[in-house]
Amino acid sequence: MLHMKDLNLENKRVFIRLDLNVPLKNNKIISSERIDRSLPTIKLALKKNAKIILASHLGRPKEGQYDKKFSLFPVFKYLKKKLPEVNITFSKKYLEGINVNTHQIVVLENVRFNCGETDNNIDLSKQYANLCDIFVMDAFATAHRIESSTYGICNFVQKSCIGPLLYSEVKTLKNILNKSKHPIVTIIGGAKVSTKFNLLSSLLKITDTMLLGGGIANTFISLFYPIGKSLYEKNFQNKAKTLYKTKKILLPIDSRVSTSYSIDSIATIKSVSNILPHEEILDIGNKTVQKYKKIIQQAKTILWNGPMGVFEFPNFSKGTEEIAKSIANSTAFSVAGGGDTIAVIDLFNIYKKISYISTGGGAFLEFIENKTLPILEKLKK
Ligand code: 3PG
Repeated sequence: MLHMKDLNLENKRVFIRLDLNVPLKNNKIISSERIDRSLPTIKLALKKNAKIILASHLGRPKEGQYDKKFSLFPVFKYLKKKLPEVNITFSKKYLEGINVNTHQIVVLENVRFNCGETDNNIDLSKQYANLCDIFVMDAFATAHRIESSTYGICNFVQKSCIGPLLYSEVKTLKNILNKSKHPIVTIIGGAKVSTKFNLLSSLLKITDTMLLGGGIANTFISLFYPIGKSLYEKNFQNKAKTLYKTKKILLPIDSRVSTSYSIDSIATIKSVSNILPHEEILDIGNKTVQKYKKIIQQAKTILWNGPMGVFEFPNFSKGTEEIAKSIANSTAFSVAGGGDTIAVIDLFNIYKKISYISTGGGAFLEFIENKTLPILEKLKK
């Protein structure tokens, strides 16, 4: 595999795919971790006198449509602040070509505004390739996606290489997984249910106990009780049934529910067997917290991805906070990954108490499952 650090980038147009998909609230960055972890790559490109093009997605906007909510403009402003000496510009229309000089950075608007990005469209991949001489893949957190700016571009660009962050994430995770001690406790939550569901079976192979929260847990609970308006995936119920038979999965026994979904919604704690049709599960309850904490205390290795509930709403952050602090205080080797998970780590100020924090969420889980990622195989070729 070619490495960015070994290439001559002098006066070359270098297209660097990063994962700058940071959580935003009212267009303000809640956690800058993914940007901060990408800064060494940007600085390396500056040091090597490249003409720098930075690309990333943010969220999941509707393709072909601009939506301010998903704009990378706040990320561009943050980069300007972090690199005050550098000439950095922002480009909304770049597919037909852009001007970039040596030691200058152009930040591209969200690549997922472009039609065909998530389908790995050939024409779009060619357009990206035409913008540059060298492609650097450094978006570990998006390395499990086969999309035009993460994968397809490699087919048309003169030279492709791996970036420092992607390389170090893969190397570190490999080392950790080879050395992990039992009992291994995996904690999975969050709202991206379908992406994670497909990874559960291989995670269960290496896990002694799996603790679930968020939309994934709701899908399992729905096998036994009605869950009202709660987030879940009907299509995965059969799979959930099979996975539950492993007897390694623990589910919430109580939850914080609401009849509305807003920042000031009131929480009521209820048994999961008692949810009414107009109610929605938004966090785990106190009994579940106690049950999960006992398991966490016994772990030697903890793999954590995703919050237990809607931690952004103050009345529904308690479950996530308790579990996060319990992971932080455990003596186990803890590995956490994912955009929302990092935001939780920031929010509860436990950064220094997690043994390793990966920028990837889905990518981190998929890497644990397959021990590789599609783009790594491609770059090897
Ligand atoms: C993530 O947050 O896990 C990555 O940025 C990938 O985002 P995606 O799940 O929308 O592809």
